[in-house]
Amino acid sequence: MRILVTAGPTREALDPVRFLSNRSTGKMGYAIAAVAAERGHEVRLISGPVALEAPGGVAVSPVVSAADMLDAVLGDLGWCDALVMSAAVADWRPKSVAAEKLKKAEMAATLELERTEDILKAVAEVKQGQVVVGFAAETEDLLTEARRKLQAKQLDLIVANDVSRPDAGFAVDTNAVTLVTADRADALPLMSKREVAKRLLQWLESL
Ligand code: CTP
Repeated sequence: MRILVTAGPTREALDPVRFLSNRSTGKMGYAIAAVAAERGHEVRLISGPVALEAPGGVAVSPVVSAADMLDAVLGDLGWCDALVMSAAVADWRPKSVAAEKLKKAEMAATLELERTEDILKAVAEVKQGQVVVGFAAETEDLLTEARRKLQAKQLDLIVANDVSRPDAGFAVDTNAVTLVTADRADALPLMSKREVAKRLLQWLESL
């Protein structure tokens, strides 16, 4: 299969030295890209800013903001058979980006924000048979939220991820996830992110 993977956080600039972002380190998405390539798939990886090496055999397109990631995903969507959207896309960005570093004396105490694009919703409007997988990183109501996102973003599968556990989610090498489709929920035990990647790929390969 041709598999397009996104990974890592996005950064939403406030000025040339400051940004809004999140705790994603890209480990889950890089594991998916690496394991997919090892299993013989053609893989492209669209990556936000992370400190990881490109997996062997994987073409990496680096991006910074949610808007950049949207462009890159839409640009590669026609190429892929499956999109795995494991990036932690920022939901809000500063409404204006200063061209020069802001001086503290000139800055307001509150930031005015605007919504970023919902990449998976944009994909839902233009996809043509691609299998689409999302992630739901939650600290409460894991399965309810995952099912809501599965439907709202018209996904084939969502990987529900309880990020309130210290051994799962951001910045660690293990994860505890539930694979949720329209008709089932498969709770996997705590396992390495590479093993989670393998389970996800086995699901894709079984379609
Ligand atoms: N996602 C996306 N575009 C965004 C935000 C998220 O495509 N602007 C994708 C993520 O890559 C992930 C899925 O949507 O695969 C769920 O991400 P999440 O942040 O949990 O979704 P939100 O819709 O932002 O959910 P919430 O209402 O909890 O903020």
